[in-house]
Amino acid sequence: MAFPLILGVVAFTVIQASGKSEAGPMSLPRETFLDEQKQAFLAWTFNDTHIDVSITVKTRGWLAFGLSPNGEMHQTDAFVAWVNDTDGVPFLQDGWLESNATARRVTLVRDSQQDWTLLQGIQTTDETMIRAVRALVTCDRHRDRPFSRDTLRILWAAHDKDPVDPARLPHHKKRGVKSMLMFSPSYLRTTPVPDTTTADTHPEEVVMQFEQVLIPNDTITLSQCRLFQLPKIEKKRHIIKTRAMVQSGNEQYVQRMLASLCRGKFEQNLSPATFDCHAPGNAQMMLAVRQNCDALIATWAVGGEVFSYPEETGLPLDVDSSGRYVLLEVQYGNLPKDVFLSEAIRDSSGIVLTTSDTLRRHDAAFLTTGLLQFD
Ligand SMILES: *[C@@H]1O[C@H](CO)[C@@H](O)[C@H](O)[C@H]1NC(C)=O
Ligand SMILES: *[C@@H]1O[C@H](CO)[C@@H](O)[C@H](O)[C@H]1NC(C)=O
Ligand SMILES: *[C@@H]1O[C@H](CO)[C@@H](O)[C@H](O)[C@H]1NC(C)=O
Ligand SMILES: *[C@@H]1O[C@H](CO)[C@@H](O)[C@H](O)[C@H]1NC(C)=O
Repeated sequence: MAFPLILGVVAFTVIQASGKSEAGPMSLPRETFLDEQKQAFLAWTFNDTHIDVSITVKTRGWLAFGLSPNGEMHQTDAFVAWVNDTDGVPFLQDGWLESNATARRVTLVRDSQQDWTLLQGIQTTDETMIRAVRALVTCDRHRDRPFSRDTLRILWAAHDKDPVDPARLPHHKKRGVKSMLMFSPSYLRTTPVPDTTTADTHPEEVVMQFEQVLIPNDTITLSQCRLFQLPKIEKKRHIIKTRAMVQSGNEQYVQRMLASLCRGKFEQNLSPATFDCHAPGNAQMMLAVRQNCDALIATWAVGGEVFSYPEETGLPLDVDSSGRYVLLEVQYGNLPKDVFLSEAIRDSSGIVLTTSDTLRRHDAAFLTTGLLQFD
């Protein structure tokens, strides 16, 4: 949503909590940054009935966190919280965002039923952390969205100041939305057992994931492609682990994924959108892409799990891989006949590469056998 946001609070009361929590931070095993600039970090856990989240944003002002229906602010089920700069007391309010495009503003309407319970609120010199718990499904049907196993649009916003008048929140300074399968094991901090990444310092993840790509209902098999740009690599790194994130609910359709590193930069700026790899209209572009992007760096097929390189080995990402593209290709199949009758499927599957700056003894390489068919 492009228009500036003004949050005005219609009615305001606050829940105040002791700044203490029984559960230590280790009890939130799932975590992710909500944005590429690493301004907002989310950690969470859940049981059969409740979700326990901790959101940390680079701000000493207020922050908002919630479930958006589609990535927009409008009708987002959110809480707004902050830690008072004067006395360090945290506040949280459960609400619902209503946007009015004509008036170009968003209002946080306080929920009559306050479902979030503030557990903890702390601020440091540059960050605010708010931890709160809520039922996955509340009984407030009109004003609360469920934390379900589907892809959720997690929305956050922040301002650098506490509100002077809590009845009128100023225009946010930072905002983001991330589509997430919050229940997916892919967000677990570490996978125990033979995970060879633990010995490495500074592991970093490169996430290449489709965003709600449409699998049209008139196809039987389909390959979708997207180019992702690697982050800046200042010093040679090793890829030490790769894993697939298959969108839950789509396990039967997502059959194969391939990630291939492109050798050169492209002449023209390639569209960051997802496209049909085999559509006749894309043939020319795909030919260029295939010739450029032929170094496999990760593969996955149905039944595959996390792949960790042996302890002494990693797949090199040299400094000159900085900013290069990676082609992610996902093959869909098994699309049921009744798809023709029902709604099209949307998919946000992808691949995560874990890289480390602690170089291993050996560089790995892919040996590709078989016939590459350019069609
Ligand atoms: C689930 O978590 C909530 C919130 O932390 C807690 O009150 C509840 O007792 C938990 N339920 C079970 C079965 O552990
Ligand atoms: C912060 O605390 C001070 C002192 O308790 C109070 O006067 C002020 O209104 C509070 N500000 C906010 C934004 O809650
Ligand atoms: C949106 O804002 C405009 C201008 O302030 C106002 O006239 C209109 O009634 C508002 N619409 C809704 C649905 O609140
Ligand atoms: C297939 O999907 C399109 C667009 O999503 C929709 O308009 C159309 O009605 C669907 N066809 C059937 C037979 O459901």
